[in-house]
Amino acid sequence: MKQATKFPSQEYAVSNALSCASSCIMRRQTRYRVLAWFSMVAMILSFLPFAILPEISPEPPAISLHRPKLSPPTLPAAASCALCFFGLPRSFELFVLPSIIENILKTNKGNRCDIYFHYYDVKEEQKNVRSGSGGQIDVQAVEKLREAVKDVYGNDDPNLPFVSIISDTESEFLSKRGQLMEKYRKTKAKDGKYLYFPWMAKSFVYPTSIDNIVKQWHSIDAVWKEMELGAAKLQKEYAQVAMLRNDVMYVTPFDIYNTSRTTKRGAYHKNNNLDDYVGVPAWARFPINDRMIYGSYKGVKIWSTERFQRLEDHVLTYEPGYGMHSERFLNHSIFPAIRDLGIQVVENPDLCFFRARADGSVWISDCATRNGAARGFRKMDTQRLVENIIGKSCQKSKYNRVTLQLHCNNEPQKNR
Ligand SMILES: *[C@@H]1O[C@H](CO)[C@@H](O)[C@H](O)[C@H]1NC(C)=O
Ligand SMILES: *[C@@H]1O[C@H](CO)[C@@H](O)[C@H](O)[C@H]1NC(C)=O
Repeated sequence: MKQATKFPSQEYAVSNALSCASSCIMRRQTRYRVLAWFSMVAMILSFLPFAILPEISPEPPAISLHRPKLSPPTLPAAASCALCFFGLPRSFELFVLPSIIENILKTNKGNRCDIYFHYYDVKEEQKNVRSGSGGQIDVQAVEKLREAVKDVYGNDDPNLPFVSIISDTESEFLSKRGQLMEKYRKTKAKDGKYLYFPWMAKSFVYPTSIDNIVKQWHSIDAVWKEMELGAAKLQKEYAQVAMLRNDVMYVTPFDIYNTSRTTKRGAYHKNNNLDDYVGVPAWARFPINDRMIYGSYKGVKIWSTERFQRLEDHVLTYEPGYGMHSERFLNHSIFPAIRDLGIQVVENPDLCFFRARADGSVWISDCATRNGAARGFRKMDTQRLVENIIGKSCQKSKYNRVTLQLHCNNEPQKNR
């Protein structure tokens, strides 16, 4: 659009420069025709870079075009991306890391996303209905991510993605968010019931569920801040960011520039809000999926950094009894704020990941829920999918009425 509005003035300027004395009206008309042609060619040339740019090229195009005076709108310096991981790294080495290598690092290799990782430096997790039987947390395993990145790119790659891994211990977390957590635990509404604790949602346990939500939100916020520090240090501007749990097994290929396994979106949508989007999974919608987001930097920033501030208004304007219920809060307060920036929230039908648990199990019914399923997952052989990624054989059992789990041992995978 900019081109179209700028163009007449350029034509005017050029035509002035070329104009001859008032005696040569005929020749002038021919010139106008020539000029009209010239203008059209110039316009096409100025659009050409967009047409032939590979959509996800991390570098500016290597072609050199002779540009007419009128330059095209400036492109963002270099399309760049960041993968951010958060949370408590349950069964990281067994389930999470092999799946990150297979379905995140390899699939985003061409995008060369930098990597940021925040985790809780704790030794074990207590049993808890919502997150399984508990168990040891092997935090040392997290450091293996650095080696994995080198393996994927090749040790001698001069341009390895930047990797930053940070953590909080329990007491560091408490000194940063302890008071806030106390407030969420204790504050009551006018009706005498808890304001923040979602007492309407029966699966929430007081006060553990509050604590776990605050821990998750803190980790999300912390890794975002680390990413911003990294961007400043590296003098980069990340156009696309993914927020990823560090306790899940990624069982479908993920590309940060795709909105499905067959649709790639360009990296150069920064100046075009209508085309800007964030992607989320299409299952476990309670009423929306809150487990992952990726895409537009600005959109993902709201999801990652504005929870604590927006919660205050949310608990006063949403149905009482849902307080800090994460999915309802996101649906009612966070996604609308993203959409207000002209950013679409789109569901990627092909994203699937299973929660890994600290006891060495993985929940394989996660992507086929009564509130949506990833494409093909109602009929998927999920056990085989898991076994193929970790190269080990597993036993299936029921965790509860709706959740199937796998326990996987150290035997190499049997041919089934
Ligand atoms: C991304 O989309 C392209 C099609 O544009 C497809 O070829 C590719 O396999 C997709 N990658 C992933 C990981 O979904
Ligand atoms: C989720 O948000 C939509 C509007 O985007 C609204 O219509 C719906 O009622 C919300 N669901 C819940 C459970 O709050």
